[in-house]
Amino acid sequence: MRSLRGMQSFEGKVAVVTGGGRGIGGSIAKALAARGAKVAVVSRSASSCGATAEAINAEFPEMAKAYAVDVADHEAVAALGKQIVSDFGTVDILVNNAGVTRDGLLMRMKEEDWMTVLDTNLKGAFNTVKAFMRPIMKSDGGRIINIASVIGLMGNAGQANYAASKAGLIGFSKSVARELAGRAVTCNAIAPGFIATDMTDALPENVKSEIQAKIPLGSFGSVEDVTNLVVFLAGPGARYITGQVIAVDGGMTMH
Ligand SMILES: NC(=O)c1ccc[n+]([C@@H]2O[C@H](COP(=O)([O-])OP(=O)(O)OC[C@H]3O[C@@H](n4cnc5c(N)ncnc54)[C@H](OP(=O)(O)O)[C@@H]3O)[C@@H](O)[C@H]2O)c1
Repeated sequence: MRSLRGMQSFEGKVAVVTGGGRGIGGSIAKALAARGAKVAVVSRSASSCGATAEAINAEFPEMAKAYAVDVADHEAVAALGKQIVSDFGTVDILVNNAGVTRDGLLMRMKEEDWMTVLDTNLKGAFNTVKAFMRPIMKSDGGRIINIASVIGLMGNAGQANYAASKAGLIGFSKSVARELAGRAVTCNAIAPGFIATDMTDALPENVKSEIQAKIPLGSFGSVEDVTNLVVFLAGPGARYITGQVIAVDGGMTMH
């Protein structure tokens, strides 16, 4: 028996985490499973979601299953919805975390770079909410948590596509929150600042130090910093919080 003493318990809950193969999503999937949730780990490649599910099952047998699906593919996500409900019986918590960047100044940005980012980061969330909203609406304590970004609040030179996708995701989250509030389903967006993952590792060292200098708390965040908020928002303690955008950014954005 896993010890849940002092921890939020998700015993009996089923969570879907997109982009769960690595980085922030991998951490979220593991944290929810460690607290008793069964977790459907979704990512683009079978190897990454498979590795997360394997790591979870090694510690907590039969708590995770891996699904290699492109969240931008509407039909594939609709089929995924049916598959996961058939495998787990229901879905209570959806974490839309899958995301990509294709950075470049507008002068050089290709249509394909725009479409890939919008299709994955924004349409991907539309696809999954459509696929899972029915079981989530039936859940006692349904939760949708969308991982946006501070870039969706502030904009950023070289990230027009990414900023638009994340700002869109914030508007989408507020609309979902309003539509599903009558069923006591909450929907919130988290806006991480700069978190140490493969995504930010790709940045040149001089850019990393420039960014770091602008963070009041003085360093990049960790995946756990974001995961801690997801765990709280997914639990019963957050039942009266919906339609919010909460930054986890070391103080980069202050309103
Ligand atoms: N890191 C940051 O500083 C930061 C800051 C603000 C917001 N965020 C957001 O947080 C989320 C996670 O970021 P991260 O840094 O953990 O990213 P990451 O390390 O690059 O991991 C991204 C994950 O998303 C999956 N993914 C990408 N495209 C997908 C698609 N079309 N269909 C299904 N899965 C897909 C990847 O699958 P594979 O493993 O198969 O490639 C991977 O598991 C993203 O939405 C990102 O925009 C990150």
